Amino acid sequence: MRKEVLHYLNVHMEGVIVDGTLGDGGHTEFILKNTAPDIRVFAIDRDSSAIERASERLSLFRDRVTLVHGNLGDLKSLAAQNGITRVVGVFMDLGVSSPQLDTPGRGFSIQNDGPLDMRMDFSQKTSAADLLKKLSDIELASVIKNFGEERYSKRVVRAIRREQAERPITTTGQLSRVVARVLTSSRHSRIHPATRTFQALRIAVNDELEQLKNALADMLGLLHSTARVAVISFHSLEDRIVKTFFRDEEKGCSCPPKLPMCVCGRKQTLRILTRKPLLPSKEEVDQNSRSISAKLRVAERVYV
Ligand SMILES: C[S@@+](CC[C@H](N)C(=O)[O-])C[C@H]1O[C@@H](n2cnc3c(N)ncnc32)[C@H](O)[C@@H]1O
Repeated sequence: MRKEVLHYLNVHMEGVIVDGTLGDGGHTEFILKNTAPDIRVFAIDRDSSAIERASERLSLFRDRVTLVHGNLGDLKSLAAQNGITRVVGVFMDLGVSSPQLDTPGRGFSIQNDGPLDMRMDFSQKTSAADLLKKLSDIELASVIKNFGEERYSKRVVRAIRREQAERPITTTGQLSRVVARVLTSSRHSRIHPATRTFQALRIAVNDELEQLKNALADMLGLLHSTARVAVISFHSLEDRIVKTFFRDEEKGCSCPPKLPMCVCGRKQTLRILTRKPLLPSKEEVDQNSRSISAKLRVAERVYV
């Protein structure tokens, strides 16, 4: 959805656009190619290998781009450290990248056997294998239920514990077989029975939802009046956070309706531009099947 993102960012003044999830730099490259030379991109990724790849890809635009290894959840301080106080747009393309998914050694994929890692940033201390060892049964079931929306989380935890009583779980292949043994996928389902468990562990290892909430709160303080924020999410938990944040910020006042006047003092900060999320076109899904679950939401900063 590169064209849609650029169209909706509607950059009409010189300044900085934040790409909070640089990945391989595809969106940043598209933005730089299709905007005036006085537009710069400040791009962040917590994966140092993404920064390396994107830095090569974007070498032509070296004087218009700043690449930073860091967490989007620290947007406010990363921007301040780089002397950025106001921006003309913020973009986030959440989740994992294709290189992360396709590299077995990163441990994100059910299809490719590899170490059960799932850390986006190599400097994080806790891998998915560590989480399986560290969490209590109740904690693990709650992660799998809440972050994977897995109805049979307790059954999955029992299967994990049975396996761990025999040997530690250290690979993606081993975990996917353990889950598949107790959850048969329906004949009509195209997804592997361990998909929800993998999603849950990935979100927990990378603390993805809390980082997204921090990033949304931080970007409000950076956006110029009428500057826009565009977020692409890939699963319902992320999308719900974005949708709820946009709605709350559009509404402003959070007082109970029965109060005769506002006592919370909260003002509107956003105007939603996509009442329903934008979905990828059929051509895009044909070209990149992973885009099928993408949802783009956009809002504009207002100062009242
Ligand atoms: C879907 S990919 C982005 C692809 C990119 N838009 C492109 O065109 O190549 C998501 C990227 O965001 C990074 N990421 C996810 N959550 C992050 C966070 N909280 N902070 C920084 N980077 C994050 C991942 O490491 C990954 O490289």
